[in-house]
Amino acid sequence: MAKKTGVEPVCFRDRFFCFESGDGMSKTWRPATQLVHNGTLRSQFGETSEAIYLTQGFVYDTSEAAEARFKGETDGFIYARYGSPTNDMFEKRMCALEGAEDARATASGMAAVSAAILCQLKAGDHIVAARALFGSCRWVVETLAPKYGIECTLVDGRFTENWEKAIRPNTKVFFLESPTNPTLEVVDIAAVAKLANQIGAKVVVDNVFATPLFQKPLELGAHIVVYSATKHIDGQGRSLGGVILSDKQWIDENLQDYFRHTGPAMSPFTAWTLLKGIETLPLRVAQQTANASKVADFLAEQTNKVARVIYPGRKDHPQADIIAKQMSGGSTLVAFELKGGKEAAFKLQNALEIVKISNNLGDSKSLITHPATTTHKNLTDEARAELGISPGTVRFSAGIEDGADLVEDFARALEQVSA
Ligand SMILES: Cc1ncc(COP(=O)(O)O)c(C=O)c1O
Repeated sequence: MAKKTGVEPVCFRDRFFCFESGDGMSKTWRPATQLVHNGTLRSQFGETSEAIYLTQGFVYDTSEAAEARFKGETDGFIYARYGSPTNDMFEKRMCALEGAEDARATASGMAAVSAAILCQLKAGDHIVAARALFGSCRWVVETLAPKYGIECTLVDGRFTENWEKAIRPNTKVFFLESPTNPTLEVVDIAAVAKLANQIGAKVVVDNVFATPLFQKPLELGAHIVVYSATKHIDGQGRSLGGVILSDKQWIDENLQDYFRHTGPAMSPFTAWTLLKGIETLPLRVAQQTANASKVADFLAEQTNKVARVIYPGRKDHPQADIIAKQMSGGSTLVAFELKGGKEAAFKLQNALEIVKISNNLGDSKSLITHPATTTHKNLTDEARAELGISPGTVRFSAGIEDGADLVEDFARALEQVSA
């Protein structure tokens, strides 16, 4: 065995494999260090890059060992639907980043959102959710949950009093996204958590837009955090994945059986790509945020063509006070509204050279989308208007390119847009 970790190594017939978890670390290092090392399970071959364990099952030395594993008397994996070494490394690294006790990696962000919400509810329960949600998340609470007898009230989540007014005796879950997709509204997470604690409800936060670097919902009092790891965590446009993080008790009592028996698990190959992604997360997000900020400032100066810019890193964000209270950085995303409506938005998008048209976000490549005709096209005109999505609204997801090039690309493309 290599260095001592203080963590019990998981061994299986040490002539074949003997893992050491924790990557030989003697203490809890700062986040950027943990994102490269935490959770590592290194085999006897001493690989530098984490191994991908593409296995469905695990073998046992003896029948007694199998029985003991199933009884929970010994540590180790049983079946990849509910636990495997590469996923375990990814989950542990996410826990270190989020300050969570436990996590489960899922096949997509939507698998994480739906599992986190549905695993803890039954017919007769009530959800209060922010109305500004990613379309599929809104479908889960507004359309799917009611099919199973779970009631749902959507509120304008920017104002805490709306959450309070929506509470019913059967309210069990509050669900929100902050900042929101695409108009970057924020919800006061600590205030909503306080309300939830008063009635014994749980707060589930979709933290995709903030990233785990700029906002820590668990520290703000939320109970469960979910991610689409497809976005910044992969950050390179390769893998679809998700993760649910919470305290161990909540996972054991609510998620564990749901996860085991409904099977939303991530593939080990995906877990490996995300482990690699997470190593560079702080570097990418810092560059993306600097680029987003530069583009936001540039667009805000183009007052003849741009009606408004919404960027959590700018002082003129309508909820700058809440952002200062709960976020430690701006955002990799910028929303802005062109005076010329849909025609101007399409012209701008078509004229951009570096920035690609795509509904994805969080990628190392800069991406732009027109929410009214893509991500939010299924909403009614009225619902879009409520969310501040107009025909001229555009969402920009900054990549890691040179910021000066991105500003130049926007300047050039804006010339094609009439005032
Ligand atoms: C805020 C938010 N939550 C959840 C999801 C769903 O993630 P996935 O595409 O990984 O299922 C998305 C996808 O865009 C999103 O933007």
